[in-house]
Amino acid sequence: MDIALPHVFPIFVSFFCMIMYAVYDLSLKAKILRAKLRKQGIDGPAPSLLLGNISDIQEIKSKASAEDTPTYNFLEPLSLDCCTILLPHLSQWTKQFGKTFSFAMGKVQILYIGDGELVKEMNSCKSPDLGKPSFLQKDRGPLLGKGLLTTSKEVWAHQRKTIAPTLYVNKVKDMLSIVLDSGNTLVESWEKMVETEGGIADIKVDEYVKNFTSSSFSNVMFGRYDVAHKGLFLKFRDLMEASGSPTVLDGRPFYRFFPTKRNREQWRLEKEIYWIILELAKESRMEEGESMIQTLVEGSKHGELGPSTPQQFIVDNCKELCIVAMDVPGITAIWGLMLLAMHPEWQSRARAEVLEVCGGQTPDAEKLGKMKILKMIIQEILRLYPGVGFTVREALADVQIGKKVFVPKGVNIWVWPAALHRDPQLWGPDALNFNPERFANGIPGACKIPQAYAPFGLGPRTCPGMNLGMMELKVMFSLILAKFSFSLSPNYRHVPKFDVLLQPKYGVNLIIHKL
Ligand code: HEM
Ligand SMILES: *[C@@H]1O[C@H](CO)[C@@H](O)[C@H](O)[C@H]1NC(C)=O
Repeated sequence: MDIALPHVFPIFVSFFCMIMYAVYDLSLKAKILRAKLRKQGIDGPAPSLLLGNISDIQEIKSKASAEDTPTYNFLEPLSLDCCTILLPHLSQWTKQFGKTFSFAMGKVQILYIGDGELVKEMNSCKSPDLGKPSFLQKDRGPLLGKGLLTTSKEVWAHQRKTIAPTLYVNKVKDMLSIVLDSGNTLVESWEKMVETEGGIADIKVDEYVKNFTSSSFSNVMFGRYDVAHKGLFLKFRDLMEASGSPTVLDGRPFYRFFPTKRNREQWRLEKEIYWIILELAKESRMEEGESMIQTLVEGSKHGELGPSTPQQFIVDNCKELCIVAMDVPGITAIWGLMLLAMHPEWQSRARAEVLEVCGGQTPDAEKLGKMKILKMIIQEILRLYPGVGFTVREALADVQIGKKVFVPKGVNIWVWPAALHRDPQLWGPDALNFNPERFANGIPGACKIPQAYAPFGLGPRTCPGMNLGMMELKVMFSLILAKFSFSLSPNYRHVPKFDVLLQPKYGVNLIIHKL
């Protein structure tokens, strides 16, 4: 015994420590975080040990869909508040606990902020400790990697300083001819279809629109030459498909390590994309003129790269930018076509403006700037259908937001613009209606707390691609409006779907006439 003890004792101690840590990690840590929030008056549903509130969410969802199976009346899509239908647990807890509350998904403790004043405070909080949640890099690894979208602190700061200036207004002006070319390709293919069908065609617009945003951005990223043959953007689409919704938040934190069919598909695509991007980066050096990939190559040579190799820095940032730039403006454009199809009076007003400003010529930067009605319409589209789901942060250290709220280290913060954007207390009683007129005097004229209008996010991490996104939308709508009129097709089914992005589940079908 005397001899064995020294061997057994450390084993026993470390075993005891492991158990204690597991108990702390799974239960106590969350309890402490919740207690700290509750002390400030922020309450929420009681979580269970391993899953947090995941089973509550499932229960609320299944009850909601059993009680009133949403009858999607395609003539009145907006009569349906997609926030209550898509994420009923959030509206139920808002009723129960107020606009700001806390809940847990698996081990992740979440502070949900739906209060406009607090969102305003968050918007002006510059603390670098408001970083991105760690689950994004872990769970979304193959899809997003460690680029601008998912990193924090010094690594993020270097990426932001490298990338954001390439998307400033004056740089975006130089991208106009690229975007116009892609827009003309879209218009030409619709013209052909409409012509062969005798002047009117029923077209599912989604893929055309996504091809427009993909080809615009692939030319911005890789320079003006055809990269379609490399199939890069199609591989991105497959990878998006394969990655599904975050498994950490389903209470399956280790799922991402298993060689399931889906995961193997993700790993395969990740590798293929890695080599294609590096190859394109090498080729682009021989090209004339400046493309964004060259900026990334320069950025990989100095500055804080964190644990990434220079190659990873290039690949991950390139990948994130392409995925965002391909999907988010595209989704906005698709919802916008749906809304304009439903509101012929606004379609006519926008068309009249386009025809007046352009007078049959192609739009340039100055003409785009004169399209005030189109701008109001785009703002209204982004209000009702903000494509990016949640603006998320993690408190990497204790963070004070404004005077009122102290967020303890480890807590995730979620802001859901779709809910803020439909809040009658902020927008008035017609909050659910499509009414671009509300933006006639800008955002402050439309919303009681202008910072609560957040289609491009909040604070220092707002979208750096806003100018490009807005320009793409203006170009696409103005080219389409000048050539076609359109209405909703009877084949359209209004079913908004939400995983990471808010999208029309079955796409958008339009009846398109040549003018
Ligand atoms: C209509 C078009 C767009 C919308 C509605 C949009 C929306 C957003 C939103 C909501 C965020 C999150 C901000 C936050 O967490 O506070 C974001 C971030 C980002 N967007 Fe966009 N975006 C658009 C277009 C683009 C384009 C065209 C690009 C690329 C050229 C882009 C690149 C990015 C990047 C890199 C981030 C991460 C920024 C960071 O964390 O520092 N976006 N965007
Ligand atoms: C979109 O682009 C892909 C790849 O270039 C092409 O195969 C597909 O036919 C295009 N789809 C449409 C609807 O234009």
